[in-house]
Amino acid sequence: RKPEPCCFVIFGATGDLTHRLIIPALYNLAESGLLPEPFCIVGVVRKQMSDQDLRQSLMEGLKRHATRPVKIDIAEKVLNCLTCIEADPSDPSSFDALNGVCEGLATKTGTCGNRLFYLAVPPTAFAPIAEQLARVGLLRETSGTWRRLVVEKPFGTDLASARSLNARLLKFANEHQIYRIDHYLGKETVQNILVLRFANGMFEPIWNRNHIDHIQITVEEKLSVGHRGSFYDATGALRDMVPNHLFQLLSLVTMEPPTRFEAHSVRSQKAEVLAAIQTQTPEEALRNSVRGQYHAGQVGGEAVVDYRSAPNVKPDSTTETYAALKLTIDNWRWAGVPFYLRTGKALGLKRTEVAIKFKQAPFAMFRCTPVDQLSHNYLVIGIEPAEGITMQFNTKVPGPSISIDGVEMKFRYKDYFHAAPSTGYETLIYDCMTGDNILFQRADGVEAGWQAVQPFLDAWKKAGADGLVGYEAGSEGPREADDLLARDGNQWRELT
Ligand code: BG6
Repeated sequence: RKPEPCCFVIFGATGDLTHRLIIPALYNLAESGLLPEPFCIVGVVRKQMSDQDLRQSLMEGLKRHATRPVKIDIAEKVLNCLTCIEADPSDPSSFDALNGVCEGLATKTGTCGNRLFYLAVPPTAFAPIAEQLARVGLLRETSGTWRRLVVEKPFGTDLASARSLNARLLKFANEHQIYRIDHYLGKETVQNILVLRFANGMFEPIWNRNHIDHIQITVEEKLSVGHRGSFYDATGALRDMVPNHLFQLLSLVTMEPPTRFEAHSVRSQKAEVLAAIQTQTPEEALRNSVRGQYHAGQVGGEAVVDYRSAPNVKPDSTTETYAALKLTIDNWRWAGVPFYLRTGKALGLKRTEVAIKFKQAPFAMFRCTPVDQLSHNYLVIGIEPAEGITMQFNTKVPGPSISIDGVEMKFRYKDYFHAAPSTGYETLIYDCMTGDNILFQRADGVEAGWQAVQPFLDAWKKAGADGLVGYEAGSEGPREADDLLARDGNQWRELT
């Protein structure tokens, strides 16, 4: 189904995100016949340039970053409907001009006044832009026309700043108009978590503290900080990944079943479970966490310099490039079940997965293998590199005597479905245009996420360099992350 006609206004039209993801995703939607008709794009820039120059730059970006062979007629159709305009929140009159352009385009193109404002700009600009849009009436909906505001991550840098940003945005727009993006929700395998849990009868009955021993969430990256030093050094692994991406995975895996598959029910359940993460005391936060920083090493045969020597990183930086946490969720379903989360940069491999470890069989009648030596029963939701689901269980080794070994049953997306390669933004952009905010974060969910990580942020800030451990680039991360689980008699799932 095509979305209703609309005008797609991109703030930050000359930026990396627009070139690398937004335009390639719009192209893919156009190729699949999923762009509205009529449709137009307004590219908002800080320094005036001609429509033609912006179109050309975006065409080059598209050719570089397209996930499918570019068909020029489709690409031209998308880009020829683009108008470029200069606007800057420090110059309010430029928003009056923007309003005029949008009004003109609504009549000229027949896009009926529906507008989507995509803020592909640094977070400090979110509220000032929203304020100016509201002032000139561009966020006012009337019966029959909609106005939407899409904001990118990071949404705040701690609980206080996230609350304040929510409060400011909600002064200018209603919650249903705000689409807070977390690109993890655009991943098929992440969306599939709800289908796995709630469209099958066999998992949900055992999805609780009676049968699940613990859950591990791993997001390991080979990428080092690269040229993002100034952003990353002020941010760190915890802020960059945990309250957003890892908590999206955590909430989908742990939420209660929503009554309906629609935004209100789903987002309420997600926010509820995040709010149930136990708030740790400063001592608990230190005891239940590991923060590491990488030293020079080799990742995939390439030399990686020491984090502190990377461009725009302070030479005495105590910013973590690796974080591991142990959390618990205080509710009926999860009481007593540990959740281990880890994420880091410059590691030996790229792996994103949720591993659910089930309790051991209570008694093994097979003399050959004592119960504590049976292989573990894991259900693994693989997000990268292998998209799919793996079940690990024990089986009899063929032969006259009883001997037991662990085996795997694997479902891989690529074996069943042949989806055209995508940027991961198509569904998110399509949903913004159709007005479905199920895959976007609501204010209370964002704040609940920050609330859960705040004790770690505070405790780490106070500890300074104390407790920051090193690991070699290209390794599996700091040994202390193994100790975090070993203390509970557990270990990270090994790759098979
Ligand atoms: C981004 C972070 O949000 O997610 C990056 O800012 C990180 O530091 C990226 O590399 C990871 O995304 P993915 O989809 O590659 O796991």
